[in-house]
Amino acid sequence: VKIYVPRDAAALSLGAEKVAKAITQEIAARGLDATVVRNGSRGMFWLEPLVEVEVSGKRVGYGPVKAKDVAGLFDAGLLDGGAHALCLEEVEDLPFLKGQTRLTFARCGITDPLSLEDYEAHGGLAGLRRALSMQSADIVKEVTDSGLRGRGGAGFPTGIKWKTVLDAAGSRKYIVCNADEGDSGTFADRMIMEGDPFVLIEGMAIAGLATGATKGFVYTRSEYPHAIATMTEAVEIARKAGILGTSVLGSGKTFDMEIRTGAGAYVCGEETALLNSLEGKRGVVRAKPPLPAHKGLFDCPTVINNVISLASVPVIMDKGAPFYRDFGMGRSRGTIPLQIAGNVKYRGLYETAFGLSLGDIVEKIGGGTASGRPVKAVQVGGPLGAYFPRALFDTPFDYEAFAAKDGLIGHAGLVVFDDTADMLKQARFAMEFCAVESCGKCTPCRIGSTRGVETADKIAQGVDPERNRELLADLCNTMKFGSLCALGGFTPYPVMSAMTHFPEDFAPTPLIEA
Ligand code: NAI
Ligand code: SF4
Repeated sequence: VKIYVPRDAAALSLGAEKVAKAITQEIAARGLDATVVRNGSRGMFWLEPLVEVEVSGKRVGYGPVKAKDVAGLFDAGLLDGGAHALCLEEVEDLPFLKGQTRLTFARCGITDPLSLEDYEAHGGLAGLRRALSMQSADIVKEVTDSGLRGRGGAGFPTGIKWKTVLDAAGSRKYIVCNADEGDSGTFADRMIMEGDPFVLIEGMAIAGLATGATKGFVYTRSEYPHAIATMTEAVEIARKAGILGTSVLGSGKTFDMEIRTGAGAYVCGEETALLNSLEGKRGVVRAKPPLPAHKGLFDCPTVINNVISLASVPVIMDKGAPFYRDFGMGRSRGTIPLQIAGNVKYRGLYETAFGLSLGDIVEKIGGGTASGRPVKAVQVGGPLGAYFPRALFDTPFDYEAFAAKDGLIGHAGLVVFDDTADMLKQARFAMEFCAVESCGKCTPCRIGSTRGVETADKIAQGVDPERNRELLADLCNTMKFGSLCALGGFTPYPVMSAMTHFPEDFAPTPLIEA
């Protein structure tokens, strides 16, 4: 019998290691025929550590399990899926999972992340095998036709980026995976790296075949030690199995990769700062053009894609472009892993086709606020994303629909706030975040963010509020259009949306209550 206990960092932070140990001890003490498999997370964090047992081909779940519950679970007949207060019945039938369309996260939480056998048994490597039988231009066309757009946040068509690199002249080309996941409330990249690392390796190898790049780097953050360890081990396993190296799956084609760790600067998630950091330089933004696709890592043509973009490629190559593009709405094709966080009842990862309304995501899937109070705002797209009020809850989750309402979906992180949130404080936080994380290269961001903090403070203190509100808006305008990169350029989104949708929080504080 197989007993699954997640090794995902979220589950570990909730005690999964102790639970796994207790289960192993209990198996030995009772002389049972059972093994513990360390899987990734299913992404239902309120149930972690979620223990699953395979019973007649089905997975019965128990959660959230504490080490002290383990003996009782065995007494209740855990190996047969026995009844217990923590029993959740069949995991796949839980509404949070049942409603999802898991394409990119198809294996996450199901398989042993470091078992190649498991990976292949669940459809792994089929995409790479197909890509090996195709010409580079045909792989690029397949990805273009799928409609896949950059999941890091900007939504640039992945196939077009790949074509630029394929067409660029260069004796060396690179694939760089941006795994510097820095947005507040996001964890999709981490979950893939910890829960299904081979899908990222496969996606990068396909990107290499498509563009003529023979070397790849995954640039991730030092705050992700579990992801780094899992990815490093997975790369070694893949190399030994001939998936990476001088003859990818015996094809005679070369692709190899390495994992690199950043020191934790938010701006190193910006692609050109990331390249500088990868080259061993200070993480400062480079002016574009030249685009990295023309002149990227060590001045060579470089594909830079987010983890989720690359991890979505194997399923596209396996099932074909029409299958993938059939999901979604408008120009947002395929699926998106929503990361639901903040003051919300059911926090976790929900992969679904584009098009769900923001209200349904927060109320129906997220279950409303954890505090039980009314939702006041949802920040979508990280610390540089706009705050959406309830009045915009009918907005469908789609790149263009969010842009039309002065927002962005970014890396698909949603952070929910209840009616106790002070939006002036949130606007100040955005400016402060920008001031702390600014690389200092351009004036609107470097100076503007500090002036922004001061101006927000003046409004809070009731100093000439009308003029300071105007000043803050003017400053946002300068930062939006005058900054070199998205850090300075997007900080106005949270600030302006807070001012526009919650003007009452920016009103002067009366000195004497009426
Ligand atoms: P961008 O719009 O400048 O570029 C998007 C991508 O397309 C880049 O890789 C760029 O090099 C490429 N590109 C543009 N034109 C091209 C062409 N003609 N041929 C080939 N490639 C081309 O956006 P940027 O500054 O790269 O990213 C901004 C986004 O990053 C924001 O929308 C924000 O949501 C997101 N972001 C994500 C974070 C995360 O943790 N995932 C953190 C911070 C921001
Ligand atoms: Fe650096 Fe900020 Fe300018 Fe970006 S906007 S280049 S982070 S100073």
